[in-house]
Amino acid sequence: MNEKRADARAWDAILERLATLRRSEEDQPVVREPGTEGHAGGRSQVEAIYLPLVQTRKLVIAQLGQTLDGRIATHSGHSHFVTGAEDIEHLHRLRALVDAVVVGAGTAISDDPQLTVRHVRGDNPVRVVLDPSGRVPSDRKLFQDGAAPTLWLQSRRAKPPSASGTVEVLQMDEVAAGGGFHPATVLERLAARGMTRVLVEGGGLTVSRFLAAGVLDRLHLTVAPLLLGSGRPSVTLDPVRTLQEALRPQCRHFALGPDILFDLCLRP
Ligand SMILES: NC(=O)c1ccc[n+]([C@@H]2O[C@H](COP(=O)([O-])OP(=O)(O)OC[C@H]3O[C@@H](n4cnc5c(N)ncnc54)[C@H](OP(=O)(O)O)[C@@H]3O)[C@@H](O)[C@H]2O)c1
Repeated sequence: MNEKRADARAWDAILERLATLRRSEEDQPVVREPGTEGHAGGRSQVEAIYLPLVQTRKLVIAQLGQTLDGRIATHSGHSHFVTGAEDIEHLHRLRALVDAVVVGAGTAISDDPQLTVRHVRGDNPVRVVLDPSGRVPSDRKLFQDGAAPTLWLQSRRAKPPSASGTVEVLQMDEVAAGGGFHPATVLERLAARGMTRVLVEGGGLTVSRFLAAGVLDRLHLTVAPLLLGSGRPSVTLDPVRTLQEALRPQCRHFALGPDILFDLCLRP
């Protein structure tokens, strides 16, 4: 069997497992955890990467594609594309495995993303935009294309746009220190609507807030062999004094074409 066909088969099995998980009242732990290196245990790379993501009904995962020097876009917001085609396909697989995909206002403005599943088989998630001040223009594709439901999260201080078609405006209180929605509250609001599997797709500020709040189960960082030397940062956290205080999550890594995916498990 050629590699593409084997990947397609493995992906079908992952989607089937996801469907079982969604129908079930219980988690479906994998019998054997894939090892710390990509292909351990004779599994294909598709199985090794995605099987751990279809064992619990609740999953909060974030992703970023960054340069070697930790940038996700130029200063002007140009980010197409930091990582290669294999990582784009990986991103579409992640979208297919969740109920909701969350982006910050900066990404909705700069990228005008669709946030749909197009490169692999799978269903589109609900699209969620964190836009407390209502600064994202309503002509963005995800507000216009009707390809999937879109939740536009705004603070009560924003002047709400009129909701239309597949777009719903949800007003929330800003309670996080320094303003913004507490990531745990965002997840609670999504869970209350049955969305317990969530991908935080970017950008750097949004992923960093979810990471700092301790609500992420996993973080997928794909590093491309590219140096920018300037630009929008990937993860940024409050300063720590010593390296002992740094996050050292359990990590597996996989080659995605010319890039390396670091799969960080943030739960013991
Ligand atoms: N390489 C990649 O993987 C990747 C992925 C996605 C995006 N990008 C690039 O990243 C850039 C944007 O990233 P960014 O870090 O500058 O911005 P961002 O994370 O997309 O958006 C940040 C903004 O979203 C809102 N937001 C985020 N979390 C919030 C929370 N918990 N509560 C309330 N509001 C929240 C805030 O809006 P307000 O400022 O209005 O308060 C915040 O300033 C773009 O250039 C895009 O092209 C790259």
